[in-house]
Amino acid sequence: MLDKSKAPECRSAGVPEVVPHSRPWITEADVRAVARVVRSGLLVQGAETAAFEEEVGRSLGLPPGVAVGSGTAALHLALLGIGVGPGDEVILPSYVCVAPLHAVEYVGAKARIADIDPLTFNIDPREVRRRITRRTKAIIVPHLFGLPAELDLLLAHGIPLIEDCAQALGATYRDRPVGSFGSLCTLSFYATKLLATGEGGMILGRDPRMLERLRDLRDYDERRRHRVRYNYKLTDFQAALGRSQLRRFPQMLARRKAIASRYARQLENVSVALPHADGHRAHAYHRFVVRTSGSAPALARRLEALGVRARPPIFRPIHRTLGMEGFPGASDACRHALSLPIYPTLRREEEAAVVRAMQIVFR
Ligand SMILES: Cc1ncc(COP(=O)(O)O)c(C=O)c1O
Repeated sequence: MLDKSKAPECRSAGVPEVVPHSRPWITEADVRAVARVVRSGLLVQGAETAAFEEEVGRSLGLPPGVAVGSGTAALHLALLGIGVGPGDEVILPSYVCVAPLHAVEYVGAKARIADIDPLTFNIDPREVRRRITRRTKAIIVPHLFGLPAELDLLLAHGIPLIEDCAQALGATYRDRPVGSFGSLCTLSFYATKLLATGEGGMILGRDPRMLERLRDLRDYDERRRHRVRYNYKLTDFQAALGRSQLRRFPQMLARRKAIASRYARQLENVSVALPHADGHRAHAYHRFVVRTSGSAPALARRLEALGVRARPPIFRPIHRTLGMEGFPGASDACRHALSLPIYPTLRREEEAAVVRAMQIVFR
């Protein structure tokens, strides 16, 4: 059995024993940026956070965002900002991590689960239409794995859209950044994400009054009038880490895209379906997810034995968490989707090891 705790750096030079599935890219400049803030003694929601909010907003063509402690907190506040509460319904896809479901449950609304388009793994706009009722207050649209969802069709429903860009910072739809289409955009800066501050998140949008409301909700202290508020603040050292990474974000994205295009070329003759690509959406390649014809967990075990950590990217579809039947798209993705290592620090020899292992397992 391979030792999961062993860091690649601890092994002898060359290809590590196991190519990890994720690895954050932390540079000396990142460390200095964090250390500077920690030494300053100004630790929480100060100038660094304000600058981070401004810079992320600018990168999306939006006003400064509202930084919070996680992507889940961002979704929670986004729902509150739109005014979703008990008796309301929110549509979300089955094939996504459980965070959006939690956010809907936090506000006491009912989650209406929609199936995905099996080709893209994203929420299927026709499925959304079928679930719209007079109680539908919002649709949560994750751009899963970094591929933009079909925004034109989703916006046409005329219901407030929360673009969950936790996995899609830097992706574009018709040459415009995702996150700039919906009523609100949420981001996650969790350790494995495109921009990784450890934990962290942000909400962005265009409506200044909405942004003010969200700013008010994320911090409970020193308010004249009482209402339920949250402690969802981001620390300044997390913001400093985010800002430092944002400076090389185009390079990070370019590296992911270069790996994806080499994978696509080298896996052409391997019997898996490659990630969907078309002319009007640019993938951020947070994940490189292939569709296999076998059992993804079993195939992941075979790849691991060959030194490559691939994994089914979603632990359990939401419909199953809720004890529901059906949802053939999400069920199929759960059985067959496999996420391969892709990140800016993936070395060429690791990339070659992934391709070799794929060729052996899928020959
Ligand atoms: C699509 C999506 N939405 C929301 C979240 C929640 O983000 P966080 O882990 O920062 O709370 C995640 C995290 O994995 C995610 O992938």
